[in-house]
Amino acid sequence: MLKEEYDPIYVMADGDRIKQLLTNLFENSIKYGKPNGRTKISFFDMDENILVEVTDDGIGIEEKHLSRLFERFYRVDKSRSREAGGTGLGLSIVKHIIEAHNQTITVRSTPGVGSTFGITLKKAKPN
Ligand SMILES: Nc1ncnc2c1ncn2[C@@H]1O[C@H](COP(=O)(O)OP(=O)(O)O)[C@@H](O)[C@H]1O
Ligand SMILES: [Mg+2]
Repeated sequence: MLKEEYDPIYVMADGDRIKQLLTNLFENSIKYGKPNGRTKISFFDMDENILVEVTDDGIGIEEKHLSRLFERFYRVDKSRSREAGGTGLGLSIVKHIIEAHNQTITVRSTPGVGSTFGITLKKAKPN
């Protein structure tokens, strides 16, 4: 169910970089998703910040990999993805962008069920 209308919420961020970040997360959600899988984008109003979550119902990630996921060139298992040939750079770029914004990224995942990547963005002060 879609709600009809929301008041816009503005954030303080480098738009091009955030576009690049979200593109990376959306792309992963499809690449490591299942055929006819779904990507859900959620927004949570957290007072000072907005929490944006990208959730897929794909192959998921084992716990033991989670701490290294944001390292450059780290890939879990090349044979698992529907589309091979990634560089393992996407999430390191995502992390770099988030750190440049002094914000946070988190991941939670259950193998075989799916993954959720959450980033925070700083709300712009209302005029
Ligand atoms: N949504 C996801 N579901 C399952 N595994 C993921 C997801 N996103 C990233 N991964 C795992 O993390 C690794 C690193 O991701 P990334 O840095 O974007 O590199 P790439 O997509 O080029 O392999 C991927 O190789 C994949 O194993
Ligand atoms: Mg990627």
